[in-house]
Amino acid sequence: MKAKILIVDDDPTAVETTGDVLTVGGHQVFSADNGEDGLRLAEELRPDLIFLDVKMPGMDGFEVCRRLRENPKTSRVPIIMLTGQSSMEEKVKGLECGADDYLTKPFQRVELEARVKVLLRRAADRPPEKTEAAFSGKTIAVYSLRGGTGVSTVATNLAVGLAQLFGCPTVLVDLVSSGGQSSLMLNISPRYTWADLADKPLPGIDDELIASLLSQHASGVSLLAAPRTFKMAAHLTGQQVSMVLSLLSRRYHYVVLDLPHDYSETTLAALKASHEVILPLAPELASVATLKAALEALEEQGVSQDHIRVALNQTFVRNALDPKVIAEALQREANLVIPFAPEVVNSINLGTPLILGASPGPAGDAIEDLAFQISSEEHQKQPPAQPSKAWQRAHRRAEQRGHKGLRRLFG
Ligand SMILES: Nc1ncnc2c1ncn2[C@@H]1O[C@H](COP(=O)(O)OP(=O)(O)OP(=O)(O)O)[C@@H](O)[C@H]1O
Ligand SMILES: [Mg+2]
Repeated sequence: MKAKILIVDDDPTAVETTGDVLTVGGHQVFSADNGEDGLRLAEELRPDLIFLDVKMPGMDGFEVCRRLRENPKTSRVPIIMLTGQSSMEEKVKGLECGADDYLTKPFQRVELEARVKVLLRRAADRPPEKTEAAFSGKTIAVYSLRGGTGVSTVATNLAVGLAQLFGCPTVLVDLVSSGGQSSLMLNISPRYTWADLADKPLPGIDDELIASLLSQHASGVSLLAAPRTFKMAAHLTGQQVSMVLSLLSRRYHYVVLDLPHDYSETTLAALKASHEVILPLAPELASVATLKAALEALEEQGVSQDHIRVALNQTFVRNALDPKVIAEALQREANLVIPFAPEVVNSINLGTPLILGASPGPAGDAIEDLAFQISSEEHQKQPPAQPSKAWQRAHRRAEQRGHKGLRRLFG
């Protein structure tokens, strides 16, 4: 199980060693170096598990533990206290304060892994809380290691498509720090961008701050834009990205990511936070080769094969590789094909997403169909009470294709 884990410890070396083991185990790791920040992060992030150091300057681990248990938002989160060598007193006190388990520093990697596994399993087996179940939206990443395969086109139109199909809160997050294209494709001049977050310490990042950085598009999509100029570009950390995505997924039904073509810390953090990943692929050899590398990176980040869709995007037609040759090279079929369509470049030039244009054409339809199919379980279970035009269109096409899933779901 992939979990969100918070480490509260004032010793950076301890945070790093514990964090490394957990990251390798496929978990998303956050940290705070004091009790106050730890409490704030725990409330905002709602982690699945907390490691809590006993001895910290200011508020000690016992007090943090007590307060976590008193707060209804964090009262059920499993807590592992990190105690000093053979201090029985600390262990007993920790358990009395409401901790679930303890680990004595320094601990062995296998010991840590075993305790995490047991506590996460125990928490998963517990009946769900009757009061306020935390909402969790669907995070969908669009990613390619090769430039120009249509990542921004797919991400932007997918976000617009989801907002139009279901009329629910949708946010597009452009993580391409070297001149992201999403704002251009939506014809938005963002006042704020990711760069305005860069100097913020983790506990200073909250819903209010993020909301103040978003730009709005007429389609209903909110945009967290990337800095557009070299001077504005700023260094973000993987933890900042994980934090922002985690907060956004509690507010937005869909969080769509336009990712850069790299393996940077922030890109890997974004992939790790994603429930679904779409890999656009252009019909040429370099694109095929890099797609294989992307699949490896995803495996490393613990993204399961079932949540990956390869989108063969016919960005050109002359001398394009045959889809059969591509399938043989990849040893898998593309999950969908986006046909070549001259409207795509036109829509970028106009700043009107393809899907909203007068004639979305075959490429727009393909991305709208993708939005329909990748929608949340809740949206797939039953048709909306008042289906939007987009929904009716996509549903009709799905019926024409004899979409088995829909027949099953909608009778
Ligand atoms: N299906 C398509 N038919 C025709 N042209 C397409 C199609 N998909 C994308 N393109 C064109 O390919 C180019 C690259 O698309 P896009 O900017 O979406 O890709 P990207 O992977 O985000 O590129 P970058 O490396 O710049 O981030 C654009 O000019 C776009 O118009
Ligand atoms: Mg792009």
